[in-house]
Amino acid sequence: MRNQLFIKLSIVFLLILIAVGGIVTYISQYTARQYHLETNQKLHATLAQYTVDHLPNTFTDDGQIDTNSIQELMHSMMIINPDVEVYLLDNQGTILSHVAPYKKVVREKVDLEPVKKFIEAKGEIFIEGDDPRDLLGKKVFSVAPFIKDNQLKGYYYIILASQEKDAVMSSLLNTYAWRLGSRLLLITLLGSLILGLFAFWYQTRNLSKIKKVMEKFRHGDYSARVLESQKGDFAVLGDTFNSMASTIQQNIEKIVSIDSFRKELIANISHDLRTPLSIIQGYTETLLMKKDTLPKNQQEEYLDNIHESSKQLVGLVNQLFELSKLESNQIQVHKEPFPLQELTLDMAHRFEILAEQKNIHLEFEPVKDLPLVYADIGLVERVIQNILDNALKFTPEKGKITIKLYHDQNHVKVDISDTGKGIPKKRQSAIFERYIKSEPSENQKVGSGLGLAIAKKIMELHDSSIQVKSKLNVGSTFRFELPVYTA
Ligand SMILES: Nc1ncnc2c1ncn2[C@@H]1O[C@H](COP(=O)(O)OP(=O)(O)OP(=O)(O)O)[C@@H](O)[C@H]1O
Ligand SMILES: [Mg+2]
Repeated sequence: MRNQLFIKLSIVFLLILIAVGGIVTYISQYTARQYHLETNQKLHATLAQYTVDHLPNTFTDDGQIDTNSIQELMHSMMIINPDVEVYLLDNQGTILSHVAPYKKVVREKVDLEPVKKFIEAKGEIFIEGDDPRDLLGKKVFSVAPFIKDNQLKGYYYIILASQEKDAVMSSLLNTYAWRLGSRLLLITLLGSLILGLFAFWYQTRNLSKIKKVMEKFRHGDYSARVLESQKGDFAVLGDTFNSMASTIQQNIEKIVSIDSFRKELIANISHDLRTPLSIIQGYTETLLMKKDTLPKNQQEEYLDNIHESSKQLVGLVNQLFELSKLESNQIQVHKEPFPLQELTLDMAHRFEILAEQKNIHLEFEPVKDLPLVYADIGLVERVIQNILDNALKFTPEKGKITIKLYHDQNHVKVDISDTGKGIPKKRQSAIFERYIKSEPSENQKVGSGLGLAIAKKIMELHDSSIQVKSKLNVGSTFRFELPVYTA
């Protein structure tokens, strides 16, 4: 894939270089011309005054300018120095006489404004005056006034660069400036081009690599990442892409795992629903078919089995409903301050009869001065109920269940221990996952495997957790903690 940004940047850069080159050439040409004019005027500033001062006969006997004698001088000047044009002006600026070859004078009058400024500044000024040969043109000049008896009679006006010289000068200047400009331009252009192109290539080199990685990602390679070694100004882009790609990849993985979990869940649920349903179906069919011949006690036994299976069904459906509500955040957590000890004691009392039936000793160790906790009573009740339910289910006869509460500065903790069959180390972290339950052979009454997943989710909603410590064939301790209420 071509580095298109690099090509575009290079073209723009080239255009900028050409524009800058043109401007530089123009400015240098203009400056060279200005320099030449200023030097010329400065060098010849006193030329007019000097000439006037050395004129033998400036005025006629009647006090007027002696045009003839001045014209002679003007001719001599022109012969000696063909660079100049000499004009004799009256005190209004009207051209009285001039010596300019080829009679190309087009103005009748010269503007006196610059002339006066020049005289006032005693020639220490750069100023251009009217060019008599050009209706719009301006030229550098030297000028001196003719004064007789304190009366201004006229001016001796010298244009310092004649049109001919100007023409030669400007063509020379043009060629010189063009040569200088073009050489400079060529060298700068080439130099800047090489440096600029390298700089652009260097700066944009990563972009095409990043683009390649993005393309790979777009075509489904979610592991494609911009390598760390690709530094430079576009490294930020690479890093941003990497983190974005990681998030997308994680989300995709999550979606895939949720999808496979759902499939598994549906398979499990249908299996779990099918068993009690087929039991119910089987017994009801038998009862319907043999209701007249079947002895009473067997009928009762069948009805008991039907009742047990329907209870199992209701339990499973309720658990599933509760977990799905918790996981989709449809349950509102109503936190309030309450004494956890009282709630735990209340739950223990409820389980006492069941424990007695199974000949299990249920022990509660009360503690004094426990602070209130801040949590949702109903949800915490579900956690205790699920833990006690398991303890009772997985502890054999003559076993013992102990409930202990204690607290530190910020939390009240509950430990529910049993002397049950225990949980193997490698299963301990898995039991809090949805649908992890004991093998059918281990227990007659197999649960749905949702009780601890519900407890874990409830604790998460309280920014807390539930943990287990267990030793196989010795027993298990489930612990959870809740924040102390601070008014
Ligand atoms: N006190 C315990 N002693 C031994 N094993 C336990 C204990 N508590 C939980 N377990 C193990 O963890 C598994 C998951 O427990 P959980 O409460 O989530 O599901 P369940 O009791 O099988 O079903 P349900 O609670 O939905 O009726 C249990 O099946 C069991 O194998
Ligand atoms: Mg359970």
